[in-house]
Amino acid sequence: MSVAVASNRLERQKVRIRPVEAVAASRPSRRLSRLKAWFQRNVVEGIFLRRQVERFFLVFGGHIFFQTLDAASRFDLFTLLKNHNGMTRQQICEELGIEEQPARIMLLGLVSSGMIKKRGEVYKNTRMANEVLCSDSQTNLLPYIALQRHVMYKGMPKFYESIKEFRNCGLEEFSGDEPTLYQRLAHDPEVEEVFHDSMSALSVQTNKILADYVDLSGVKSLVDIGGGDGTNIITLTAKYPKLQGRVFDLPTVADLARAQLAAHPNAARLGAVNGNCFEDDLPTDADCFLLAHFCTIWSPERNKQLLKKCFDALPSGGRVVIFNMMQHNDETGPLSAAVGSPYFLTIATGEGMLYTWNEYEQWARESGFADVKQVKLPRDHGAIVAIKA
Ligand SMILES: C[S@@+](CC[C@H](N)C(=O)[O-])C[C@H]1O[C@@H](n2cnc3c(N)ncnc32)[C@H](O)[C@@H]1O
Repeated sequence: MSVAVASNRLERQKVRIRPVEAVAASRPSRRLSRLKAWFQRNVVEGIFLRRQVERFFLVFGGHIFFQTLDAASRFDLFTLLKNHNGMTRQQICEELGIEEQPARIMLLGLVSSGMIKKRGEVYKNTRMANEVLCSDSQTNLLPYIALQRHVMYKGMPKFYESIKEFRNCGLEEFSGDEPTLYQRLAHDPEVEEVFHDSMSALSVQTNKILADYVDLSGVKSLVDIGGGDGTNIITLTAKYPKLQGRVFDLPTVADLARAQLAAHPNAARLGAVNGNCFEDDLPTDADCFLLAHFCTIWSPERNKQLLKKCFDALPSGGRVVIFNMMQHNDETGPLSAAVGSPYFLTIATGEGMLYTWNEYEQWARESGFADVKQVKLPRDHGAIVAIKA
């Protein structure tokens, strides 16, 4: 090796060899950067971002998780799991007559989205699944899942167009030329039945809340505007033995309600009136109008118009009860309000949404009601009770 080459090599090595003091000084900063990397991996990526990314997957793949839930509910898998108090995959396959691989895919979707649990090799229902996903549960929401399948999945792909045009473009998927889904349902008895079954499943869940928490003890005659098949008034008249209850709804729906109510033991106190609440007069012999899951359908202007109409038809001391899920006053949620609102724009009427507590209270006051109370209720529900002086 020539002297020049050797000294060149030494020069290069010198560059790489760092003085002892420099190494010592860099130790804390290396430790710091290792700590930073650990924090980034375990805390930022592992906890905060992971949660956000999981949320993203739930939203981005919402339609896939829904299909997983829908498939499982059509197999009545949740009832099976409840009745067996948990099952292995092999047992599930044998019971349902399906192959391992598709069963694995369905079960993975259900476990990862939190619909059921997996403990070792055993799949079990969550408490929520026992309550709302088993066909033998009194409070099951299976008809509501069927509504998603038959109505929401048909119309909701037009959400983008509906936002741009501010009209219910998704309604084009349903036969008829009327402006709302409720009127068009009369053309399709099968979907109409799915719709009313789902409303009544929802009412079974929620009208118990209404009966338990909203005091109607002074009321003699209640008219449930848009009362559907009469599930609400059945519950309320059962709680209040002197209460008379009537549904006020579109003709085909009022007919449906009449048939159901006639067979009820309290039939003498129950009835149905045909009517369109915006075009026809409201009964003037009622001392309470119930607007249950009804104001969400309409624009603020129509709701004010309806509240004023109720105010004019009521005697002094009469009241209106608005009952539905409420949006937070600061417009940040809850999820139930966010997931419920697009349907009213895209399919139902092209104008409604789940409004805030304060909006309802303000409309009631503007309509003439002086005594207005907000009643907070379970499951994101609320009631506005407005009394005429
Ligand atoms: C979302 S459902 C609510 C059903 C029931 N109130 C409940 O709490 O489950 C809306 C109801 O309003 C009725 N409806 C729609 N437009 C109406 C109108 N203009 N006048 C009266 N009822 C109407 C529908 O037929 C349907 O029964």
